[in-house]
Amino acid sequence: MTALARETPVDRPKEHAPLPGTGLARAAVQVLLGNWTGASTIPSPTLYPHQWSWDSAFIAIGLRHLSPRRAQRELESLFGAQWADGRVPQIVFNPRVPNAAYFPSPDFWRSGRTAPAPRGLDTSGIVQPPVHALAALLVHEADPGTSRARGFLPRLYPRLAAWHAYLMDRRDPGGRGLVSIVHPWEAGMDNSPCWDEPLSAVEPVPPSAFRRADLTGGRASERPTDADYGRYVRLAGDYRDGGYRDDAPPAFAVEDPGFNALLTASEYALAAIAAHVGADPRPHRERAAALSAALVGHLWDAEYGMFLCHDAVAGRRVYGRSVTGLLPLVLPDLPAEVTRALLRTLAGPHFGLGSTTSLVPSFDLLSDAYDPARYWRGPAWFNTNWLLRRGLATHGAAGAARTLGEAMLEAAGTSSFAEYVDPRTAQGRGTRDFSWTAAVVVDLLATEGRY
Ligand code: SER
Repeated sequence: MTALARETPVDRPKEHAPLPGTGLARAAVQVLLGNWTGASTIPSPTLYPHQWSWDSAFIAIGLRHLSPRRAQRELESLFGAQWADGRVPQIVFNPRVPNAAYFPSPDFWRSGRTAPAPRGLDTSGIVQPPVHALAALLVHEADPGTSRARGFLPRLYPRLAAWHAYLMDRRDPGGRGLVSIVHPWEAGMDNSPCWDEPLSAVEPVPPSAFRRADLTGGRASERPTDADYGRYVRLAGDYRDGGYRDDAPPAFAVEDPGFNALLTASEYALAAIAAHVGADPRPHRERAAALSAALVGHLWDAEYGMFLCHDAVAGRRVYGRSVTGLLPLVLPDLPAEVTRALLRTLAGPHFGLGSTTSLVPSFDLLSDAYDPARYWRGPAWFNTNWLLRRGLATHGAAGAARTLGEAMLEAAGTSSFAEYVDPRTAQGRGTRDFSWTAAVVVDLLATEGRY
């Protein structure tokens, strides 16, 4: 345990009033309490029994309404595993969980043999979308008194700044002012059809060379294929064998609009955090504005009416409509015509919001690659819908934001907090009692004063 994670004992969540009639709030709280380990929250006991980076950020956004201290602790335990080079690992492993419970386990990643990794903790060596500064600001704002008393922001600020600096300094090989992911897991949207083409050049490891654990807790038809896993393992193993250094040209490098939009939103949040801790917010604002301009300059596609991924190895655009290309809607400073086009695309035939779907799918409904059941190839996820709901509200579409929020509550409640749902029928897919689904429910209810 690092000093940051050890800081204070964790309080017990305060008592809460059940939501009249539905009990949805109570059920969501039960999921979050059940998945708490004492220092952080596991995404799911059946599929993901460790701490995941972007999961913890969304979980903290929900936890802040139950226990601001616990929400702070969620982020602090993650940043306690930050590497010396600034990277925040995608997974922090719980040493009490056996290796067989999750693949790839610590003996695959071997972070302990890597110089910049923290001593005494096992982590993976890749990253996930940087939504943490936004989460930290929201956690602070939920209870500024507790946050100040614990020195939450002053302790987290330099770590958040180092995290963003790692991404901007080490992950922009093309110098275009945008960050590249070097593994599909880094997008958080593991097997989006957008990765099919960039991944096709990667030689898969044979299935006999590894043993998946996800098929024990999940259905094969709702998970990535073995061929996808073979490529994930190849890329992760090669990155590990290169010492997780970012100076060699990677076999897979993609500028992902969602990842970069979340970095931009987080850099704006970091400006607000800087102001709270007495640091200069201006460099953060300038960096955020530059990122936002680079997003629009390089990844906006006026014909598609959305942002598209860029394959930085092949040097070409990826023509696939993924929800990642709608996520820049969370940014407040997009050009008006870009915002208008994004709103049209959301409601148009490819995503169908308000007509053929009540929740935004993860991939183009009209594509041959669309699959309403399989991981990130079509199903609707609650974290991306939470972000888009926030974007709708930011850009004056209050009615659409409210309707989307109601659909999310309904789908989460009827699916027992599914990991993802069929966007047309809202039928649950993936695992259940999924932490960020419950966290998003708590946040929606609490911000509307219904909790
Ligand atoms: N989401 C990945 C998995 O399915 C890793 O982050 O294990």
